[in-house]
Amino acid sequence: MADPIDIRSFEGIATVLGSRSFVPVNYEERHRAVGDHLGFDVSEIIAAIHHISLCLRDEAHLRSRKRIATLISQSNADATAFIAGEVPEMLAKLLSVGTHDVMGEFVNPCVNRLISTNIGTTLSLDHTTLISRLFSQTTGISKRRRMNAELAELRLHIQRELPFLTETEVGDRIALCILGTDALRGTLGRSMQAVFAGAPYTAEYPKTGVPYIDRQAAHPCPVDGVTYDADTTLRARLDALESASDPQDRNRFFGYGAHVCLGKKIALHLWAQIQDSILDRQAAVAVTRFTLRRDDVFCVPEEFEIEVTHG
Ligand code: HEM
Repeated sequence: MADPIDIRSFEGIATVLGSRSFVPVNYEERHRAVGDHLGFDVSEIIAAIHHISLCLRDEAHLRSRKRIATLISQSNADATAFIAGEVPEMLAKLLSVGTHDVMGEFVNPCVNRLISTNIGTTLSLDHTTLISRLFSQTTGISKRRRMNAELAELRLHIQRELPFLTETEVGDRIALCILGTDALRGTLGRSMQAVFAGAPYTAEYPKTGVPYIDRQAAHPCPVDGVTYDADTTLRARLDALESASDPQDRNRFFGYGAHVCLGKKIALHLWAQIQDSILDRQAAVAVTRFTLRRDDVFCVPEEFEIEVTHG
């Protein structure tokens, strides 16, 4: 398969994500081809893809989007209560004097708690999870095997805790874990690092954990003055928005049009609370270690350590 073509201009990104001429790429075909060729089980990966709205087109997409939006809105009160009731205390602990592991002590538990409110069961995923790597074109065989096993484990966990759910309802919850956790984990981790390093407080996240979204041309289409053939994969580089001079442009980290992020409102609400709580603490924070995990899809910190000298 040819490499995707990077699109970095604001207008180009808007066209690729917002126009009906571009459709989600066929993730199923990629995994099935590798699984068939090398003879290993990709059934859980394929089952998950069938429920992920970002992988679906037309009517199937509309139906999935509607179900997931309902799931998120039904849990809005719990999610809001978590943000107001628990996040300030979690940050107060993180910003007490000493050395802290930001992913382990704050980002992972915060993301798990928030997505748990959406799916109605307790999640304990961390930043090493492979469940969201199914968007990767380059993941190796052993990681694909582990991804399939992790997805099977997640399905069993949800079925055990919520045995009355239909297969579709379980699938929707797995889709939410795949779409919500690493996007939020990466965006929170990278944005908190930026704030600790002196980035100004803004309603928008300063950095994103979702550096790009791929789409395929349904027919020959012009973008930024170039007409691409049908089936060409274009890569909308959302990370290009990090350097936007108007911070409001960074709201587009959440995409555009038919597939625009359903977690945007709650993710921005969480960011407002986090910044308020950091400001309240008046802590002196130095980032002493920060590395990103090896990942060609999401941008997620692997190590994120801070030293708090005045809390
Ligand atoms: C700050 C963290 C987040 C970022 C940066 C982010 C970003 C994105 C982006 C770029 C898309 C694709 C948009 C497009 O193709 O036009 C997307 C889709 C989606 N996101 Fe998020 N997201 C975040 C958090 C969340 C959370 C917390 C949830 C769930 C509670 C969530 C649920 C979804 C869903 C369901 C979709 C698919 C919508 C569809 O295909 O119709 N996201 N997100």
